[in-house]
Amino acid sequence: MPDPICPAIEVRNLTMGFGSFILLENIHFTVNHQEIFVILGGSGCGKSTLLKHIIGLHRPLAGEILIQGQPMNPQDQESYQHILQSFGVMYQGGALLGSMTLAENVALPIEAYTDLPKQAVRDLACIKLQQVGLMGFENHLPMEVSGGMNKRAAIARALALDPAILFLDEPSAGLDPITSAELDNLILEINQIQGTTVVVVSHELPSIFAIAHRAIMLDKQTRSIIANGDPGWLRDHSEHPFVHDFFNRKPSVPHPSETISAHNSMNPNDLGHGHGTAP
Ligand SMILES: Nc1ncnc2c1ncn2[C@@H]1O[C@H](COP(=O)(O)OP(=O)(O)O)[C@@H](O)[C@H]1O
Ligand SMILES: [Mg+2]
Repeated sequence: MPDPICPAIEVRNLTMGFGSFILLENIHFTVNHQEIFVILGGSGCGKSTLLKHIIGLHRPLAGEILIQGQPMNPQDQESYQHILQSFGVMYQGGALLGSMTLAENVALPIEAYTDLPKQAVRDLACIKLQQVGLMGFENHLPMEVSGGMNKRAAIARALALDPAILFLDEPSAGLDPITSAELDNLILEINQIQGTTVVVVSHELPSIFAIAHRAIMLDKQTRSIIANGDPGWLRDHSEHPFVHDFFNRKPSVPHPSETISAHNSMNPNDLGHGHGTAP
């Protein structure tokens, strides 16, 4: 059971990058229980890398990450395995194994993390596929179903062990708007019915407005978080020119870094504004 007092995720003074290549410097934010939290930002700003830090695949250069109040430390195998079991992850691209059926793909984490007999594993995989609207497609190969169905199956695999926190890296990339909206509904359902905390990387505005309780925006130039709040609030009230233009889908003429130094108005207290947790 999650501890309701601690946030689901706390990122504390995190600096991340690879060697001398720093992507983000001294960032803080929290993700609350049962929140749908969106991470957005331009290509290459470090969204996927940030997710990989949160799930412990990369080590921070400085700072720490706490999951339900517990420091994430992949070197401590026992606590790390425990934390890992509370995660469901769909990586960018969401790749299923092409030679396995949808049910076999979903069964993989169940086989890896439980001692259930073969038939029970199969049954559970089928239940998970049913949950994402794929009943009747259990024995299909990924190449035999649509892109949207592949994404659903990848989500079913991430949900296989009933995670407390679901991480989705660009789940609607490459999908048509209707399929993408259907995926939004699935994410909302998972969040509302099962109470799953969802962390999504996305830059699809309609999707962000449809599902996000809160969004943060990463900025490559300043290596920082330039927005943290309810997307509707950011659209209507953000004083940061780049953030304002993004949420209002307007072309942004000056580069974000220039706008920041020109306006010099990036008071960290300006972030969040009572809408969720200030970073
Ligand atoms: N394992 C790695 N080693 C070195 N550089 C990496 C590694 N993973 C990602 N990068 C670099 O970090 C930057 C951010 O990557 P990424 O997090 O994938 O961006 P985003 O998901 O925001 O598009 C990119 O320049 C990428 O090339
Ligand atoms: Mg990415």
